[in-house]
Amino acid sequence: MRERTLFLSAIVAIVLVALGFVVASQANLMPPAASTRAVEVDQLFRVLLGVSTVIFFLVEGALVFAVLRFRKRAGDDKDGPPIHGNASLEILWTLIPTAIVVVIGVYSFQVLMSIENPGRSPRIVEIIGRQFAWNFRYPDQDLATSELHLPVGQPVVFQITSEDVIHSFWVPAFRGKRDATPGQVSEMAITPREIGVFPVRCAELCGAGHSIMTSQVVVESQDAFDSWLAQQQALANDPGQLFLTAGCGGCHTLAVTGNTGVVGPPLDGLAARAGERGPGEDAAHYIEKSILEPDGFIVPGFQPGLMPKDFGQRLTPQQIQALVAFLLAQP
Ligand code: CUA
Repeated sequence: MRERTLFLSAIVAIVLVALGFVVASQANLMPPAASTRAVEVDQLFRVLLGVSTVIFFLVEGALVFAVLRFRKRAGDDKDGPPIHGNASLEILWTLIPTAIVVVIGVYSFQVLMSIENPGRSPRIVEIIGRQFAWNFRYPDQDLATSELHLPVGQPVVFQITSEDVIHSFWVPAFRGKRDATPGQVSEMAITPREIGVFPVRCAELCGAGHSIMTSQVVVESQDAFDSWLAQQQALANDPGQLFLTAGCGGCHTLAVTGNTGVVGPPLDGLAARAGERGPGEDAAHYIEKSILEPDGFIVPGFQPGLMPKDFGQRLTPQQIQALVAFLLAQP
């Protein structure tokens, strides 16, 4: 009898461990692992998933077995046997979970230490969240861009902040997510390991345009990255580029820059429409005023209070004039 129980327990244990192993090695729930941190996070996730699978089927299996085996049968009105505990069983079911939790805790801590290590001489990239766009700055080049490009294999530290409400910078393929908090800079270390284009999301409900607060990160070879940087520097004062780096495209539709935002009014053909807003007001003045004091006139059908009111500080007067002329020229 005792030998049969031991034999059955061994079979059950082997089946459960095999099942945990299959689930951990076959489950494919993650996007591509595009950073070195992603590889370690995925490995940790697989170990946790495997261990959880074994525990889940062990506990649920014991539960279902007990319900079937010890259920009340017709005509059986006896009390159950009076059981007052079982010391060795209680020691066992305390020690085993403790050991599992300690091992997982030590392993997780090692992974955490490893993925937060920025590596040797990382490049700094500043990430600025604002309603409703991500903007990027390369402080070594004193360059603001609307796209995030990174050279493959080079460690980066993101310095993440927000200019208005709390956003959350999230690149699923990097397995990295950090809140972008106004008045605070949060760091996140990444080393991209795969060339490609990966989505950037906002993971914190931040207002009407939260779901369109998307961007992408382009991971490319060092040569491609260098020529992109040079091209961006050449474009730094181009008004179309300014429209993107200032974040206008996050909320407004404009054909020439390929933006399709619907939080604010569309800006194509503004020269023709702007004159209708105020009697005798010329279009250039109307556009400039709308940039500097966005709540001064609200186009019917749109919400006040959504557009940032600090473009007067963020852009130089020359940049604002260049933007106004650029918008006036759009058919
Ligand atoms: Cu920014 Cu959600």
